[in-house]
Amino acid sequence: MQPLPHSPAADRNKQPILDVLRTVLPARGIALEIASGTGRHAAWFAAALPGWTWQPTDADADALPAIAAWTSQSGATNVRAPVLLDVMAPQWPSQGAAFTERFDAIYCANMLHISPWETCAALMQGSARHLAPQGVLITYGPYLEDGVTTSPGNASFDASLRQRNPSWGVRRIEDVTQEAQRAGLTLRARHEMPANNLLLVFGRAA
Ligand SMILES: C[S@@+](CC[C@H](N)C(=O)[O-])C[C@H]1O[C@@H](n2cnc3c(N)ncnc32)[C@H](O)[C@@H]1O
Repeated sequence: MQPLPHSPAADRNKQPILDVLRTVLPARGIALEIASGTGRHAAWFAAALPGWTWQPTDADADALPAIAAWTSQSGATNVRAPVLLDVMAPQWPSQGAAFTERFDAIYCANMLHISPWETCAALMQGSARHLAPQGVLITYGPYLEDGVTTSPGNASFDASLRQRNPSWGVRRIEDVTQEAQRAGLTLRARHEMPANNLLLVFGRAA
C-alpha cells in the first residue's frame, strides 16, 4: 500500500490548533473545512471532537482520496466523505447540489497565502452564505500585521511564495479583515500560535 501523503507542518500544528478549537467551539456542531490538503487536520480534529461532524473539502480533486484515507485510518466516524470545493466556484461545493445546511464552523488553514488574493473575498463571501447565524469562520496561517514587526521566518516565507507564484504571498491581516467586513463578518478573536502563525475567529457582524 502507498504511504499516505504527509504534511510535517500539519503534524506539528494540529495539536496547538486543536487546543484553541476546544476553547472556541461549542461542544457540538457541523464543521466545513476548506482546503483540507492531506486531511491530517480533519482526521485529528474529528477524532478529538466527537460532538462535531466534519466535512473536509479541497479544490484539488487529486487530494480527496488521501483525505478519505487519513480520516478512515483515524477511526473517526464523524467525518463525511471529502468533496470538491474551490472557494472561487459560484456554488459550494463545486460539483453536485449546493450545501443546503448551515455550518456551525468553517475552518480554513494555510490557504490564503498559497492561492491568489481573490480567494480571500471568495472565502469570506462563501462563509457568509453558509455559516449558521451563530457560526464562526476560523482561519489559520501566517499574516503580516501593521505595527507588528514581521518575523524573519514569515518575511522569507513571503518572499519565497511570491517567487514561486507572484499571485501568492502572506496576507495583511487588515486586508483580510476588510474582506470579511465586506461580507458581513467581523474579527472576534486573534490567537497567537507557534511559529508566528495566527488563528483568527470571525463571526457575523452584530
Ligand atoms: C498548504 S495547503 C494547506 C492544507 C491544510 N489546510 C493544512 O493546513 O495543512 C493549501 C491547500 O489549499 C488548497 N487550495 C488552493 N486554492 C484553493 C481554492 N481556490 N479553494 C479551495 N482550496 C484551495 C490546495 O489545494 C491545498 O490543499
